[in-house]
Amino acid sequence: MLRFLTAGESHGPGLTGIVDGLPAGLALAEEDLARDLARRQLGYGRGGRMKIEQDRAEIRGGVAKGLTTGGPIALWIENRDWPNWKDRELERLTVPRPGHADLAGVMKYLLDDTRIVLERASARETAMRVAVGAVARRLLAEFGVSIRSQVLQIGPARAVPGDLADPAVVERVEASAVRAADPASEDRLRAAVDAAKARQDTVGGVFEVIAFGVIPGLGSHVQWDRKLDGRLAQALMSIQAVKAVAIGDGFEVGGRYGTEAHDGMTARDGTIRRLTNRAGGIEGGMTNGEPVVVRVVKKPISTTAAPQPTVDLATLADVPSQYIRSDVCAVPAAAVVGEAAVAWVLADALLEKLGGDSVREIHANLESYLAQLAIRYQRPRIAT
Ligand SMILES: Cc1cc2nc3c(=O)[nH]c(=O)nc-3n(C[C@H](O)[C@H](O)[C@H](O)COP(=O)(O)O)c2cc1C
Repeated sequence: MLRFLTAGESHGPGLTGIVDGLPAGLALAEEDLARDLARRQLGYGRGGRMKIEQDRAEIRGGVAKGLTTGGPIALWIENRDWPNWKDRELERLTVPRPGHADLAGVMKYLLDDTRIVLERASARETAMRVAVGAVARRLLAEFGVSIRSQVLQIGPARAVPGDLADPAVVERVEASAVRAADPASEDRLRAAVDAAKARQDTVGGVFEVIAFGVIPGLGSHVQWDRKLDGRLAQALMSIQAVKAVAIGDGFEVGGRYGTEAHDGMTARDGTIRRLTNRAGGIEGGMTNGEPVVVRVVKKPISTTAAPQPTVDLATLADVPSQYIRSDVCAVPAAAVVGEAAVAWVLADALLEKLGGDSVREIHANLESYLAQLAIRYQRPRIAT
């Protein structure tokens, strides 16, 4: 069983992560984590903190001579602005910010300072989720799985989705500060961020994550908590500010006829192919060999420069919310966090399907499974 935990606060010394259950023999270096951490920090509409931070994850356990040992991986990301905070006398915060964990958190834990809640609820924690996801991504890469993302919408502005199977499109998305596939979409999405900023407001949006090269048979139809769609939804929904998760065309299928909602099959050259991928690669809670597609809605950033109505818990007076410098839009960053969540769930499901305590053993198990599929369906591999 693959599992991870994170610990740490937004303005504490740093973030800790522990990944347990990885096989031995996986090449893993800090550079593998650095790339995704840097991608999380980019994006048009981010606030001041991103300029200070430049995250770097240290691997402090579970790797010897560049290879995983089979033991837990210990990760550490220092908060670069910790020296600016550690000696400060911080006043109690008693005005909960709408859209944040502040009020529910102080009620739940019977606290009188919302700072204690916001320090842990902050999306700063997603830096560690991205580092953990990068570990999962390394495992998946070993078995031919790659994970990509793009932004489909920011506020009211929609992007024209690019074909993420095309490396040239992926290159353009990676070069775009709003993770858009073409210049016209980029302009529209940027304009939506600018418009929100001009009215002292914030925006959310929609992003898409696609996993290519996923073998059929991950997850299971036999029990509710083994269904891969449910597992993906849980992992993605747990990302700060995510409010809706769809598998494939999930947001649209409610309004379609059945003949326009499913994916017909055809056998060509002994290979089963799908005519469409509306199901996003998952049927009955299992991967069907098509790319796994998820679409995710992120709500607008909760902290707005324009005041929102709230109360002071110390006086019970109605007061306006106070502004703490914040992002205007974090949808592109959230897409990178979404990639990490998808990588995590697929890595877990892959290990569950194939078993094995070392990468070599898993390769042998994969070959054996693919050979069994070939015997039954007279084909080497379902087309991806
Ligand atoms: C990558 C990322 C960056 C975020 N940055 C901010 C921010 O700068 N300011 C803010 O108020 N909320 C930010 N959020 C959103 C809050 O963390 C989120 O609204 C809060 O945790 C409550 O979310 P929930 O209602 O989904 O639990 C960010 C979220 C993500 C995923």
